[in-house]
Amino acid sequence: MKLTILDVDTGIDDALAIAYAVNSPELNLLGITTGFGNVSADEATRNTLQVLQLLGRSEIPVVMGADKPFRRETTRHRAYDVHGKDGLGNIGLPDPMTAVTEIHASDYIISMVKEHPHEVTLVTVGTQTNMALAIEKDPSIIGLVKEVIIMGGAVTVPGNVTPYAEANFYADAEAADFVLRSGLPITLVGLDVTMQTVLKRGTLLDWRCGGSEIGTAFADMCCFYMDFYEQVNPHLGGCALHDPLAVAVAVNPSFIKTKTMQVHVSMDEQSLGQSIGKTSEKGIEVGLEVDKDAFTSQFLERVLPCGKEQLK
Ligand code: BDR
Ligand code: CA
Repeated sequence: MKLTILDVDTGIDDALAIAYAVNSPELNLLGITTGFGNVSADEATRNTLQVLQLLGRSEIPVVMGADKPFRRETTRHRAYDVHGKDGLGNIGLPDPMTAVTEIHASDYIISMVKEHPHEVTLVTVGTQTNMALAIEKDPSIIGLVKEVIIMGGAVTVPGNVTPYAEANFYADAEAADFVLRSGLPITLVGLDVTMQTVLKRGTLLDWRCGGSEIGTAFADMCCFYMDFYEQVNPHLGGCALHDPLAVAVAVNPSFIKTKTMQVHVSMDEQSLGQSIGKTSEKGIEVGLEVDKDAFTSQFLERVLPCGKEQLK
């Protein structure tokens, strides 16, 4: 089992990624770190606790991190239009009964990596801020991390918040650039591959018809996300499974095919957050192809197993 830390800005697809990760026997989820992105860090933390409570997995530690970008005072990006004003499709999940672990996410990452040298996989599906803070505070962890799988960027395709930039990189471009250039062993799961993965509206009906609390909550949540996608991307036929695909790559790296590239992130005003890559012998692994059927079928099998136990 891979010792794993999931870093989130929960968010609807983050919630799906959490469910997929906790139901994947290949992963031993040490903890979930949170930060700003889709929503504020406070909201992402509350949402994460609510999702774990829904899944019956409140014992998993949740550790709050950055509420502002690495080198700026404010972020340019929030995604309430995509994920709802509470970040989870306004479905009103019950307040969490558990509290966060009282340490900053970046310190938690450092301590876990040092406690388990060469064993920790980091899956980051929000901004790269917590990761950037961790390696700036303690660069020795760069050589001790097993792997970092990042949902972010768009190397060969257009962005999703501007024509150039993907949301997670746009929200903190400096952190993304710092992490990509750090020498960490990174696999980039960007829009290049995530936009090929689609959750169809019919699946939401199946989830709802199952009658479980979890299935109904996820169907309601995803309905909001899907409505947004249908407006901005009507040809996709559903909504993209961005964050779950990053978890999938931790579970089974062969879901994607990658190319080694040097990638940096644009700081130009117009193209802020754009990920620019060139093929190279050394660098990071950039996902360019995905076995979408194999991934989607595993994701659908796993995302709701605890829901099945609750069938009424
Ligand atoms: C990414 O941005 C966020 O809205 C999603 O949660 C995902 O991590 C996709 O660009
Ligand atoms: Ca996310």
